[in-house]
Amino acid sequence: MKIGFIGAGVVAQTISKHVLPFGHRVLLSNRRGPDSLASLVKELGTGAEAGTPQQAAEQDIVVLAVNWPSVQAALFSVTDWKGRILVDATNRVAGYNPLTLGDISGRTSTEIVADLAPGAKVVKLFNSVPMSWISNFSSSKPRTVLFISGDDDEAKKPLNDLIEQVGFSCVDLGPLAIGGRLQQLGGPLAGINLAFTERFVL
Ligand SMILES: NC(=O)c1ccc[n+]([C@@H]2O[C@H](COP(=O)([O-])OP(=O)(O)OC[C@H]3O[C@@H](n4cnc5c(N)ncnc54)[C@H](OP(=O)(O)O)[C@@H]3O)[C@@H](O)[C@H]2O)c1
Repeated sequence: MKIGFIGAGVVAQTISKHVLPFGHRVLLSNRRGPDSLASLVKELGTGAEAGTPQQAAEQDIVVLAVNWPSVQAALFSVTDWKGRILVDATNRVAGYNPLTLGDISGRTSTEIVADLAPGAKVVKLFNSVPMSWISNFSSSKPRTVLFISGDDDEAKKPLNDLIEQVGFSCVDLGPLAIGGRLQQLGGPLAGINLAFTERFVL
């Protein structure tokens, strides 16, 4: 599978390091352009390349991994979202020190993302845990639960398979309006570390 990332920071790099050893490929993009990512893709190694946000959106799956104030500009830099699988990894942090949250007027943040990417099949994933909790890239890493939600089961399926394959446990919370609310920043399932190294099987 080839995964595009809009945003090449902590989230994009962490997920890339999990998927690359399994033979998947990644294309990272940022605001400053592909040249600024040369040393990063070299460090990530085989299977990693740099590109533009438009090129990232043209991969099998594209992950939105920018900070909340940049969401609109990042999504608008792609010409056509129709039919693309768009993974929303963002949290609606408007600013730090003090921490302030972006206004979502009673909706879920991912529904707002979906409105800005008309026609995309939007899936919420990777937002619910700090990347520092999943920064063990060894084969003995604990199976951490990652929550997924989205309205399109066919779009969720390859993502579910991908994250199970690379060593996480995927829990589907249903559609964006329900699951997105549970797993988004401030929701009851955000920031909960469910990780296990052993499992009791009946
Ligand atoms: N860090 C975590 O532990 C974590 C965990 C779960 C979810 N999240 C959420 O995931 C999102 C990304 O977090 P992060 O920690 O990865 O952020 P980060 O390290 O600050 O990286 C942000 C990236 O977004 C890029 N960017 C900004 N505006 C852009 C645009 N218009 N087009 C393309 N790229 C753009 C930046 O590129 P430039 O450098 O060129 O500006 C940078 O590569 C945030 O919404 C965050 O709340 C973070």
